[in-house]
Amino acid sequence: MSETNTIVDQEESLFDRVGGGPVVNAIVDGLYKRILADDRVNVFFKNTDIPHLKGMMIQFLHALSGGPVGYKGKPMREAHAKSNIQDKDFDIVAEHLSNTLQSLDIQKQEYDEFMMATAGFRNQIVIRES
Ligand code: HEM
Repeated sequence: MSETNTIVDQEESLFDRVGGGPVVNAIVDGLYKRILADDRVNVFFKNTDIPHLKGMMIQFLHALSGGPVGYKGKPMREAHAKSNIQDKDFDIVAEHLSNTLQSLDIQKQEYDEFMMATAGFRNQIVIRES
């Protein structure tokens, strides 16, 4: 073993492993194309500035995956607080993300990391009684 070896190899970021900025942009394009074409969820976005939202989502996915762009938008709870989003709505958006990642040939490891990372925000986005 050479002296420069570390015990744990420095892992390449999720951002780099999927192909960087162009692939993140393609994920965001594919995701909102699907969401906005889906009458079950597009009503949530009827008053939303979509170019702005896409820009925020690009920043968010950079931040989430180790890309160079920082997220300057609202915290997830605040951004979604007025929309009364339910679990079933979150499930539909997650399904659109899943289909988008698959359509872009994102590999299983990276697919799982994106799906798990976004699933972790469910409790900040869904409104629950209590
Ligand atoms: C993990 C899943 C999700 C992520 C990572 C996410 C991310 C984001 C981001 C980054 C913004 C922009 C915040 C800003 O402008 O500062 C946003 C806004 C928004 N999101 Fe989500 N979102 C998710 C799920 C959902 C779901 C399930 C819905 C509804 C079905 C939804 C509806 C909205 C709407 C309507 C806005 C815009 C609010 C406005 O016009 O001000 N989001 N989201």
